[in-house]
Amino acid sequence: MKRTYIFSLIMIGFTILLVACGGDKTTKSTTSAKKPAKKEMKAKTPKKETKKAAKKKEVKEDPNAIPTPPEHLAKADEIIAAVSDSDVEAVDAKKKFKNLCAICHGTKGNMKINGAKDLTKSNISLTESVAQVYHGKGLMTPYKGILTDAEIVAVAKYTESLRK
Ligand code: HEC
Repeated sequence: MKRTYIFSLIMIGFTILLVACGGDKTTKSTTSAKKPAKKEMKAKTPKKETKKAAKKKEVKEDPNAIPTPPEHLAKADEIIAAVSDSDVEAVDAKKKFKNLCAICHGTKGNMKINGAKDLTKSNISLTESVAQVYHGKGLMTPYKGILTDAEIVAVAKYTESLRK
């Protein structure tokens, strides 16, 4: 008799556990029903944040739009005038771009690694491009002394070919 008593006690305990678990499930399901609503709320807020971030980026891009110093542009014009077309054409600009510039700009020019500008959306003049490559700007390294003048012009012209 005692054994059956204990057994039934265990069974009752077990059923209580099961019910408790079932109860948990229901509470879970209700909370999970609530959660998507929270997620929706959360999903809405990042959108606002990204908009804010986009605005911030726009603001951040303004200081980047600092005009190239006139002496840099003058030097660039000098370089463009000094190099011969044949010297520029002799340069494998695509290869040079892949080796040196793609780390930040990507092979297609549209990767904006290290704050690099999207070259496919660029609309600057050849003089400005040459000045930028020669003297560098912001996080972009200067290529004065690394590339020859003809290579700088060739690579600057190559960036123009990446534009859409
Ligand atoms: C270390 C990363 C890095 C490398 C490598 C690099 N760039 Fe840049 N580039 C940048 C950054 C950053 C900017 C934006 C500079 C700014 O305006 O503050 C930029 C901007 C430019 C621009 C100006 C685009 C515009 O519309 O204003 C040109 C042109 C350019 N790069 C060409 C090149 C070429 C050609 C090479 C290879 C010889 C090169 N870059 C290598 C980071 C890099």
